[in-house]
Amino acid sequence: SEIPVLTIDGPSGSGKGTISRAVAARLGWHYLDSGALYRAVGVAAGWADLDLADPAALVRCAFDTDIGFRADPAGEPRVIINGVDATDELRTETAGAAASAIAAIPEVRSALRDRQRAFRRAPGLVADGRDMGTVIFPDAGHKVFLTASADERAERRYKQLKDKGVSVTLDGLLREILARDARDAHRAVAPLRPADDAVRIDTTGLGIEAVVERVLALVQP
Ligand code: C5P
Repeated sequence: SEIPVLTIDGPSGSGKGTISRAVAARLGWHYLDSGALYRAVGVAAGWADLDLADPAALVRCAFDTDIGFRADPAGEPRVIINGVDATDELRTETAGAAASAIAAIPEVRSALRDRQRAFRRAPGLVADGRDMGTVIFPDAGHKVFLTASADERAERRYKQLKDKGVSVTLDGLLREILARDARDAHRAVAPLRPADDAVRIDTTGLGIEAVVERVLALVQP
């Protein structure tokens, strides 16, 4: 495809979502939050009371679930699952854990592959996820792999959740992040790893704007 793609992969808490959205806005490009697709399937599976150990049912769920993205009047992205606004439920640790579990099923990943590629529309796409540069858009012209220390990622998440009034402990979050990292890095299909041609940026100690500028400089030197 001639339509440019910038892939931004990395572990949870690396700042991918914030950076990707900001870069997409600055470029005027479309934005794909691929994690939201996995989370949406996890949430829909929960609604349908599906067994997370029943791959066939989860694959059907991945094909059948209607997942829509739209901006609310304030411009904040909302995720609509089967007609229901599930944005808040999608961000919970439960949805993240369900997403991570179903994301390990190869047929679920292929069920979502074409949906992800359909986001590639003019004038360009910023694709945020774990395997954007390695599996979904291997031909992307620009690839970034964002990292940050586990401690810093846990702290960022802690602040986010505290601002929302969710009660969590820093220690608990750090343990969850390390467990999810291990699961995402060691699974047999599409393990989290940088594409060979990805530019790695360690965001530990860097502010959002500094990272956004570094990413934009790759696309518009
Ligand atoms: O990025 P986010 O935390 O929303 O992703 C939730 C989970 O979905 C991740 O922990 C990962 O297991 C899975 N995922 C994936 N491939 C992607 C995006 C997310 O496997 N491209």
